[in-house]
Amino acid sequence: MELRLRGKAALVSGASRGIGLAIAERLAAEGMRVLLVARSADRIGEAAARLPGAAAFAADLRQPEAASQAVAAAVGAFGRLDLLVNCAGATQRGDFLALDDAAWADGYALKLFGAVRLSRAAWPHLRAAGGGIVHIAGVGGRQPGADFTIGGSVNAALMNLTKALADRGVAEGVRVDCINPGSIRTGRLTGRIAALAAERGLDQEAAARALAEQTGVARFGEPGEIAAMVAFLAGEEAGYIQGAILDVDGGWMRAV
Ligand SMILES: NC(=O)c1ccc[n+]([C@@H]2O[C@H](COP(=O)([O-])OP(=O)(O)OC[C@H]3O[C@@H](n4cnc5c(N)ncnc54)[C@H](OP(=O)(O)O)[C@@H]3O)[C@@H](O)[C@H]2O)c1
Repeated sequence: MELRLRGKAALVSGASRGIGLAIAERLAAEGMRVLLVARSADRIGEAAARLPGAAAFAADLRQPEAASQAVAAAVGAFGRLDLLVNCAGATQRGDFLALDDAAWADGYALKLFGAVRLSRAAWPHLRAAGGGIVHIAGVGGRQPGADFTIGGSVNAALMNLTKALADRGVAEGVRVDCINPGSIRTGRLTGRIAALAAERGLDQEAAARALAEQTGVARFGEPGEIAAMVAFLAGEEAGYIQGAILDVDGGWMRAV
């Protein structure tokens, strides 16, 4: 399928590894120029060097000024901005009673306020280009869990933000959509598998099976499967998709 993304420009946050890196790679393969944003300057620099037309901007997106600087870097490098992908996120799991204010503030500072600030700074450029935003939230926003209070509530907030910005986007020609990944095989997931293995005295393979069984899926997803959905949403054939919240989760979410 020709997505007609060639020559367009994207900013991907959280692009140093995992889902964000896969998104940057896929968009570059579709011919987009991509600004990779994360803290690890060496990782995003290496990725930008091997992806045609890409550039890197190292920043801690919890810092209030980082978002507008990142957007300025994208527009400075490419002269336009067609797509913002808000993927950076690192919320802490654990016992609600053990999660202090700092853990909550940290999770919100990056995944919610980082996305809010990037969206606000990018909006005029996206409006000028007739572009769009894709938020990478998570099924935990629909399906709360006792040990995922920070991530779950942040993801629910991102879904609400998606609908609110899509409402504005109808009038201004900016499409805003959201993807909820299920369990995707990245460092975050292997960390959860290792923790479950230690907790239950299982080997890694048995712990992975147990985790998959908890959510009733046949297998874990791959970062490229989230990236493929981002590329589709960015493309012209998705032009009538506005404010959509799409679960890409192997069937985990069974609610209507
Ligand atoms: N993997 C899953 O199963 C899953 C499921 C549902 C939702 N998600 C969501 O998908 C997104 C990506 O997940 P992932 O599994 O790919 O995570 P990951 O491998 O841990 O990658 C997180 C990315 O965020 C960046 N990041 C972290 N702190 C940052 C900060 N302060 N400023 C800027 N960038 C920062 C990291 O780069 P640096 O460390 O270099 O800054 C990295 O590029 C997250 O928002 C996550 O909540 C993932």
